[in-house]
Amino acid sequence: MSKRTMYAGDVTAADIDKTVTLKGWVKKSRRLGNLIFVDLRDRAGVVQLVFSAEFDAAALEQANELRSEYVIEATGEVKARKPEAVNKKMHTGEVEVEVHQLTVLNKSKTPPFDIEDGVNASEDTKLKYRYLDLRRPEMQKALLLRSKITMATNRYFDENGFIYIETPDLTKSTPEGARDYLVPSRVYPGSFYALPQSPQLFKQLLMGAGYDRYFQIARCFRDEDLRGDRQPEFTQIDMETSFLSAEEIQTLTEGLLKRVMKDVMGIDIKTPIQRMDWQEAQDRFGSDKPDLRFGMELQDVSDLVKDSDFKVFSGAVANGGQVKAIVLPQAAAKYSRKKIEEQQEYIKRFGAKGLAWMKVTDDGISGPISKFFGDGKELTDKLDAKSGDLVLFVASTPKVVADSLGYLRTHFAKDLDLIDESQFRFVWIVNWPLFEYDEGDKRWVPAHHPFTMPNEEDVHLLDSEPYKAHAQSYDIVLNGYEIGGGSIRIHNREIQEKMLKALDFTPERAQKQFGFLLDALDYGFPPHGGLAIGLDRFAMLLAGRDNIRDVIAFPKNSNASEPMTRAPQPVVDSQLEPLGIELNATGEKEQADEGNAPEDK
Ligand code: AMO
Ligand code: AMP
Repeated sequence: MSKRTMYAGDVTAADIDKTVTLKGWVKKSRRLGNLIFVDLRDRAGVVQLVFSAEFDAAALEQANELRSEYVIEATGEVKARKPEAVNKKMHTGEVEVEVHQLTVLNKSKTPPFDIEDGVNASEDTKLKYRYLDLRRPEMQKALLLRSKITMATNRYFDENGFIYIETPDLTKSTPEGARDYLVPSRVYPGSFYALPQSPQLFKQLLMGAGYDRYFQIARCFRDEDLRGDRQPEFTQIDMETSFLSAEEIQTLTEGLLKRVMKDVMGIDIKTPIQRMDWQEAQDRFGSDKPDLRFGMELQDVSDLVKDSDFKVFSGAVANGGQVKAIVLPQAAAKYSRKKIEEQQEYIKRFGAKGLAWMKVTDDGISGPISKFFGDGKELTDKLDAKSGDLVLFVASTPKVVADSLGYLRTHFAKDLDLIDESQFRFVWIVNWPLFEYDEGDKRWVPAHHPFTMPNEEDVHLLDSEPYKAHAQSYDIVLNGYEIGGGSIRIHNREIQEKMLKALDFTPERAQKQFGFLLDALDYGFPPHGGLAIGLDRFAMLLAGRDNIRDVIAFPKNSNASEPMTRAPQPVVDSQLEPLGIELNATGEKEQADEGNAPEDK
């Protein structure tokens, strides 16, 4: 074997007349008369190889045998292509390599899908053959971009005096709102470690220990319903500092974002990044992670409709609710009644009872509820709706209205192609409520986590009306995604105990679960705070993808399994015995029926 002299994808006109040795995969090969052309691919790109008896008869003979995905080594001379053969779309398109020596390093079976971008294979097939999928240029580009984010992050924190400290994976869980992944202990049968949902408590304890300015690229594990922007194991850029205000932590974070955007994307972002109150985000965008790349804001029309004969509207206002609308510009002709009303099904999950709508015409309004509003001028003036616009209304409680219209706003902005995909719009969401009501579980839960400090002027509310308190927390949002969040933490035992009490912890349970933290707070704990950015989500957005799988080398599929290794898998009894675990009928049945992972397709 000869030594590789450069990457195939890097060969350009500057290398003309050089002899190069390249190693990589056959993308495709075709015969044209007495010549064979082979596209050779490596991680840098693709270059065209040419085989001819003129250069080397033996190499030409061997090239006959080449098939897709064979791994080869080729030595030859770089030559300019004929003008008519120049391919402007390829980085290497001005040149080709005339090969005089070829070695097949390994053969390949015909791959189950073509190794190229936009390939038409099912997600599970691609994940099953992930090592082939990862050969595709767009996947390589995405993972390279992710690596660059990680490297820029490390540089930034190092330069700003942060210490990299690893925290345990076999631990006791920090509640971040999801179910834990558990790991049984052999030494203590019947006891379990939890994989961390985040390093939250450890990083706080590091502040207690005086390691001011910690950071870590930390793996987190959460057993929750999966979506395009959620994986059961994911990575956080995690940081914590002592003695800084929320504002100062935000400024440090902006420095990081600025650095990453510049180093990785070559984009200068303006700082300080806009701050928006949580309440304002709810009111104007119906979301705590508003996408600011487009308008279509929620508008309150309660006052205008409270006396109308349309009982759905007047009734909602009479019951203390509200009626809000969004205006879809020039969308009236695009959507039929059926198309609009099918959205009712989607907003039911937020608790909406229906979706009212009207189309604005040259001489007024049309649609089933138009009869209640005359020529509609009052409404259309207030909403600044023009002829050709479509107006959607939801009447209900503020939360249902915000969730429903917030969803419709982004849904229709995408459908109407109103989003400028080249923009990166960051916004801080600040002044969060400390608690939010979980309708499913019918109880109050922390809006972030139970270690978040209330606003100073709200601390007294913990005794009387805790659910009215606001928190010293902040989320950083990019293009409608929550990419990170953090807060100033509680560093005082009394406040921490009150917080746990508000979450229905008895003192005994609080001590049992968080005693180590409460005790630590007794020993000179500094004021502190921090933040964590979801690296996968951030990388996904910078890579212009809409699923975080695309920036993770070996992700789980939407059923939390991994089609390549077929994890998770049942284990044999002899592995369970020392753990003191015996499967009940359900476990055994699942094993016998289907295992836990998808079968070959
Ligand atoms: P939080 O729970 O908001 O905060 O998580 C921080 C960020 O992590 C990302 N994220 C996820 N990414 C992919 N898949 C998931 N399942 C997933 N869950 C969360 C999001 C989110 O903004 N300890 C606190 C941070 C702190 O207070 O310092 C925490 O974990 O981008
Ligand atoms: P109804 O009076 O129930 O026949 O509803 C008349 C129209 O109002 C239908 O298009 C419903 O979808 C819509 N509608 C019903 N409830 C609401 C609501 N809470 N908010 C907005 N529109 C609604």
